[in-house]
This record gives sequence, structure tokens and C-alpha cells, in this order.
Amino acid sequence: MARASKLIIPLLALLALAALVAVASGCGTTNADPQRGRVLFVQRCGECHTLAQAGSTGAVGPNLDHAFAAAREEGNDSDTIEGVVKAQVEYPRENNGNPAVSMPAHLVSGQDLDDVAAYVGEWAGVPGAAPPKVPGGPGAQVFASNGCGTCHTLAAAEAGGVTGPNLDEHLPGESQAAVEEMIKDPNAEIVKGYPPNVMPQTYEQMLSQKEIEDLVKYLLENAGGGSGGSKG
Ligand code: HEC
Ligand code: HEC
Repeated sequence: MARASKLIIPLLALLALAALVAVASGCGTTNADPQRGRVLFVQRCGECHTLAQAGSTGAVGPNLDHAFAAAREEGNDSDTIEGVVKAQVEYPRENNGNPAVSMPAHLVSGQDLDDVAAYVGEWAGVPGAAPPKVPGGPGAQVFASNGCGTCHTLAAAEAGGVTGPNLDEHLPGESQAAVEEMIKDPNAEIVKGYPPNVMPQTYEQMLSQKEIEDLVKYLLENAGGGSGGSKG
């Protein structure tokens, strides 16, 4: 009995502390900018986390819509989720499944952290969330909705991802067939200096042939300011 309570008390203290941290960090919400947070999320978090509103498809960490859907349904508001996100970024838990891919600490801080946390707090677990409609036609929408900008830079899409090659630099001059192949079968030819198996291998299954064609057309018309599609 006595031994059990010795264990329980520190545990309760820890939980109370976690709650305090969450509440205290939730205070900076007044001048947080979720729009800016979305861009940062796509760049810094989306490679590891799926979040429907961001159009990100990362699968290293938990799907954040799934992680927060229950909390939201139980009536936790955006501020609470925002606090949890801040606590996780400042003091990441070890990944129980695979410690080698635990979330790095302090990926963002200061105003950036406020903005990212406000953004995730606003959208994680919201039923039916989807990326905002973007200008530029159907191909632009496919690009925005499928996390391409999480990993790739493409100025026309205001995407600044750096995990994969900069599409403005790499695509001009490529043929339509070649770009289609790069998306459907990314491992067929690995771009020099980049690892295999990072670009999702699933787009051929996830997207319709029409969506892929719209996407390729959009890329060739816009990459590098629109000089693509000349070769082949
Ligand atoms: C290198 C991959 C990686 C990156 C980048 C990353 N995370 Fe994580 N994240 C993880 C992993 C792995 C976990 C699971 C840890 C665990 O098992 O508890 C996690 C957990 C989380 C959780 C807790 C989810 C839950 O189930 O409670 C939140 C919230 C979170 N991350 C937010 C973010 C935000 C915001 C960013 C960007 C600033 C980010 N992550 C960037 C890998 C990453
Ligand atoms: C999780 C990160 C990630 C996502 C998401 C991603 N890519 Fe990639 N992509 C990469 C990496 C890394 C490479 C380089 C390695 C390789 O060739 O597979 C690459 C390569 C490419 C290439 C070849 C570029 C060249 O120079 O030959 C194209 C084109 C491309 N991606 C387009 C896309 C499109 C379009 C999407 C969205 C439908 C997308 N990628 C989503 C990481 C990603």
C-alpha cells in the first residue's frame, strides 16, 4: 500500500506539471498566425506526419488527425490541442515503436512554434478537413492536396520543401513521360544525392490517371517559371 502510493504521487506530480506546461505555453496564442503556421508545418512536420488540412502524408510519426480526433470529439478545444503540440515540440516523447526515429526536439521555437501550434490546434482532427482550394487549375490542386510541397520546392505553388529535389531546378527540359514515371515509380531512377524510399511509392495507387496527367501538365507548365516540357 505505502509502496504503491510512493509511485503514484510522483506520477501525479508529473501529470500536473505536463498540464501546467501545456497551459502556460497555450498563453502565447494572441498573436499566433495559423496561416504562417501551415507553411511551417508543411516544411518541418509534414514529412513525418499526416494532417489532412496540410495535405501532408508523412508516416514516420502518428497521423495527427487520428491523434486528436477523439480529444476534439470529447470537447477539447483548439487551445488544449495547441498546448499538447507545444509540449511535444519542446519535450518530444521517445517513439516507443522505434527510438531511432523519435521526433527531434525544438524543430521550431518562438514565434514559429506559436504559429505551428496554433495551426495544428485549429485543424488536427477536424472532420472533413481538406487543403484550401488553390488557384492554378486541377493539377495545382493535386500538387497541393498530396503533400508534394512538403518535400519539394515549387515557386508557383508557394511550396518550399527541401527533403526532395527543387522542382524549379530539376524539371525544366524533362518530357511528360519522364515526369509521369518519376511520380509513379520514384525508385526507378533515384535523383543523385537523395535517398530512395523517401518519396512515397503510393501515388500511382492514390491518384487517378487523370489526376497524374493534370499534375504533370501543371509541373511542366510551371516549374522554373514555365520553361519545362521542351525536351522529348
Ligand atoms: C523526423 C520525424 C518527425 C518530424 C519532422 C516531426 N515529428 Fe512529430 N512525432 C514524430 C514521432 C516519431 C512521434 C511519436 C512519438 C511517440 O511515440 O510518442 C511524434 C509525435 C508527435 C505528436 C504527438 C502525437 C500524439 O499521438 O500525441 C505531435 C503533436 C507532433 N509529433 C507534432 C509535430 C510537429 C508540430 C512537428 C513539426 C514542428 C513535428 N511533429 C515534426 C516524428 C516527427
Ligand atoms: C516525403 C517526401 C516527398 C514527397 C511527399 C514527394 N516527394 Fe518527390 N521526391 C522526393 C525525394 C527524396 C526525391 C529524390 C529521390 C528520388 O528520385 O526518388 C523525389 C523525386 C521527385 C521527382 C524527380 C525529380 C528529378 O529531379 O528527377 C519528381 C518529379 C517528384 N519527386 C515529384 C513529386 C510530386 C509531384 C509529389 C506529390 C504528388 C512528390 N514528389 C511528393 C521526396 C518526396
